[in-house]
Amino acid sequence: LQALADRTRPGFRIGAAVALGPLAADPDYAQELVGDFGAITPENAMKPQNLSPQQGVYTFEEADALIAAAQSKGMTVHGHTIAFTEAMPRWMQDLPTGSEQDRRASAAALLDYVTTVVGHFKGRLASLDVVNEPFDVDQGTELQENIWYRTFGLGYPLVVSRAVHDADPDVKQFVNENGADVPGDRQAALLELVRDTNARGGHLDGVGLQAHIYDLDTDAISPEDLTETLDTFAAAGLDVRISENDVPDSRGTQLQAEQYADVLITCLSTPTCVSYTTWGVDDRYDWSVDEDGKLQQGHDLLFDEGRPTPAYEAIRQAL
Ligand code: XIL
Repeated sequence: LQALADRTRPGFRIGAAVALGPLAADPDYAQELVGDFGAITPENAMKPQNLSPQQGVYTFEEADALIAAAQSKGMTVHGHTIAFTEAMPRWMQDLPTGSEQDRRASAAALLDYVTTVVGHFKGRLASLDVVNEPFDVDQGTELQENIWYRTFGLGYPLVVSRAVHDADPDVKQFVNENGADVPGDRQAALLELVRDTNARGGHLDGVGLQAHIYDLDTDAISPEDLTETLDTFAAAGLDVRISENDVPDSRGTQLQAEQYADVLITCLSTPTCVSYTTWGVDDRYDWSVDEDGKLQQGHDLLFDEGRPTPAYEAIRQAL
């Protein structure tokens, strides 16, 4: 797939979210990844809860191994993620912020985290989600009141963006969000957040649109809506990554394949849509498997049990 993309749109990356476990243990998975993708997003390995189990303690081994494996095959790496409500270690969530003095200490601890982590990976990341899922869950348009918010207030994305820039001026900075893939209040809020941050001295290069399709009946993305979306961000001078696309085949592999192709083709036709990433490689390790390891929604990704799915063929043809 990446070889086709290189011809269709030089510089454009086809990526996948990847976990070290199957990459190290399953030759099929490794072959699918290496044979087709030109970029990885560590699925969990770079989340704060995995990088810093205790304050001042860092566990970089898994992320380093994943990045080394990707780079040895010529793949670029998208870092995921710095400020993310859902994936913080206990110590970070529990930093006290009741008094001015507390907030100063919390600010120092959070900034130390950013500086240490971004400094550690400096030079190895092409891009990075500096803020992930900033808004209230269930389509909210207000910032989640997480530790970053309680410490730095409404302007926390600016603080994070600046700290990332200080530690690695070359990494492209993104704010990644779900439910902002189509025009609407959530998308408007994301645009405003990024513009406002940059207007006050931030270094955000663009947005990640996750494009998780949970249900083709209710959240299919039409080419028209996505085109309008890409134009909106382009007009604001912002790049877009399709960052976590996956599509269940609950309405049949035909509709699934069409949805995959629609998103990729629309992205490819807009120069500011800089990359396309699926959230996983093979259904057998899909993030939406239940406790018994059964996929909740039939086929979802481009491979299943080591074999390309109809969605793979649709993506191949789209390229
Ligand atoms: C998911 C991973 O895929 C799972 O393995 C993990 O248990 C939970 O997180 N949006 C994001 C990703 O930005 O970080 C999430 O990843 C999926 C939704």
